[in-house]
Amino acid sequence: MDVISVIRTKRDRARLTDEQIDWVIDAYTRGEVADEQMSALAMAIFLNGMERDEIARWTAAMIASGERMDFSSLPRPTADKHSTGGVGDKITLPLAPLVAACGAAVPQLSGRGLGHTGGTLDKLESIPGWRALLSNDEMLAVLRDVGAVVCAAGDGLAPADKKLYALRDVTGTVESIPLIASSIMSKKIAEGTGSLVLDVKVGSGAFMKNIDDARELARTMVGLGTDHGVKTVALLTDMATPLGLTAGNALEVRESVEVLAGGGPSDVVELTLALAREMLDAAGLKDADPAKALADGSAMDAWRRMIAAQGGDPDAALPTARETQVITAPTSGVLTRLDAYAVGVAAWRLGAGRARKEDPVQAAAGVELHAKPGESVTAGQPLLTLHTDTPEKFDYAQQALTDSYDIGPAGTSYEPNPVVLD
Ligand code: URA
Repeated sequence: MDVISVIRTKRDRARLTDEQIDWVIDAYTRGEVADEQMSALAMAIFLNGMERDEIARWTAAMIASGERMDFSSLPRPTADKHSTGGVGDKITLPLAPLVAACGAAVPQLSGRGLGHTGGTLDKLESIPGWRALLSNDEMLAVLRDVGAVVCAAGDGLAPADKKLYALRDVTGTVESIPLIASSIMSKKIAEGTGSLVLDVKVGSGAFMKNIDDARELARTMVGLGTDHGVKTVALLTDMATPLGLTAGNALEVRESVEVLAGGGPSDVVELTLALAREMLDAAGLKDADPAKALADGSAMDAWRRMIAAQGGDPDAALPTARETQVITAPTSGVLTRLDAYAVGVAAWRLGAGRARKEDPVQAAAGVELHAKPGESVTAGQPLLTLHTDTPEKFDYAQQALTDSYDIGPAGTSYEPNPVVLD
């Protein structure tokens, strides 16, 4: 087999054979296929797509590139959630301990932020002492003791995806349904969860900008999970505007703790509960009551134990930014749009995200929202607060926010998007 013939096959819009797929994934993982050759193949897939059974074989080859985890010794059913990425999407933080408090085991292998979308591990690392890197044995021990663990995937899990995802990120080949579906599902299937709820984001702050593409991505991923014996369901959820009132690492941890304490923004609470119900249902725990676990403090208790089990101090003060800058409303009226992508880019430029995988992030950087679409605002009132340790970035962040919101005259009617679209 030679890689040039594999690239030519896809370049010329034909289906890759099973043998070609198995060989190219294995050879790339071993370093026999070079990055520039895999980049050409990824671009050919991006442009020409893949058939369903071709995606299934590609996913199976990525799973086979590494180890598979096994949680069958746990006394609880396993349930996991994966979001396709958004702005202010801190849902994993309250959700994992909440679902654990309701009786499931949540093995949440999470990622770091890249570009305008935040990453769960970056958020949790703003808690002093908290460790993202656990061995497989440590992960199993936390799952057994607490019922929820959020950590980085080890190097042995779907290594083909690790290499390919980093390559796609720098070659303009991320937003491809076959490549996203196989990337996400290879990791989730190799992780060994019994059930999986996918939160497929739709809107300016998401990879999928329209609902038809998001539905196609959701259907592809549900098909892959089901074929591998993982009970998989998907929700399509709104990402036209940021989730909650914060985008940034420590800012989002603070908001998540508010949700666990029974408060927090209504959209974050609603989505957390909707996903918790789906996870518990998929895990066969239909009688569990996540709203009760949030109200009676048992979810907060699981959060505190989960953070402490990974070396974090749940009582420690979270970092705050050295400088803030307030953006005020230029006119009075009704806020009718606040763009998720623009807020995500601003948070990233302030230091909450990274441009390259090896860049550090600022724990305290980000954007705080003082109003959400549908709310009335008065000229001069704070609309957004920018937080950073590097104030020379304020202008650059402000540029991202140019034309990021609309304010209609007082009385303008506003129809909010539902949090869960389908
Ligand atoms: N998240 C992933 O893990 N992979 C993708 O391709 C996109 C989002």
